[in-house]
Amino acid sequence: MARRRVVIAIDGPAGSGKSTLAALLARKFGYTNIETGAMYRALALKAIENGSSLDDAATLGALAHESHIELEPHAEGNRVLLDGRDVTRRIRQQDITDAASRVSIHPPVREWMVRKQQEIGAAGGIVMEGRDIGTKVFPDAEVKIFLDAAPEVRGSRRFLQNAAVASQPASVVAELRARDERDRTRANSPLVPAQDAVLVDSTNLTLEQVMEQAVQIVEQKLAKAGT
Ligand code: DC
Repeated sequence: MARRRVVIAIDGPAGSGKSTLAALLARKFGYTNIETGAMYRALALKAIENGSSLDDAATLGALAHESHIELEPHAEGNRVLLDGRDVTRRIRQQDITDAASRVSIHPPVREWMVRKQQEIGAAGGIVMEGRDIGTKVFPDAEVKIFLDAAPEVRGSRRFLQNAAVASQPASVVAELRARDERDRTRANSPLVPAQDAVLVDSTNLTLEQVMEQAVQIVEQKLAKAGT
């Protein structure tokens, strides 16, 4: 009998390695990978281009409602489309990184995002990665992993990812800490592990070791869920 296709929720702070892990897990299990951060980033870009205040919850909520944000799977990763335009590269720039964290604190924005993400994942067969997947988007997900790492390690990983941006590691770590603080302390859906998430600390692990642990966790949960 074919295995039931479930939801694998991966949450954690920036630079913990969750995007890389999510992509690898999706490939291994033949699932679709959805990076929810890219959706917040696309909305942040639209807000900047529209000249909207990043502090105006109602305007940002309305902007979300009139947006088409799509993640199009490709072999080399998802392509991000904002109202039909390819913004995959643009949304990785530093101004958008900061703006995405700011727009994500507003309840009307989160409500819209969570609903969209629930629609996308409804049929299962999804690895969904973000900050609130196991707590808010799919609280009943069969598999939940919370991936963390020390800030210094996360900062240097982000630096390597963004080598072309030419930031200094110290400033990258400082930016990351500021963003973490905002993501972890916001009133609405702060970044916290779900009670039933399995915690993986990748500080001293290689990518291969993280992947090995994650595959074990997925296999155990699937066996338990009888799939
Ligand atoms: O994962 P990322 O760095 O691309 O996310 C960008 C911002 O979006 C992050 O600072 C917090 C926000 N975010 C969120 O609030 N909830 C999610 N599920 C994903 C991202």
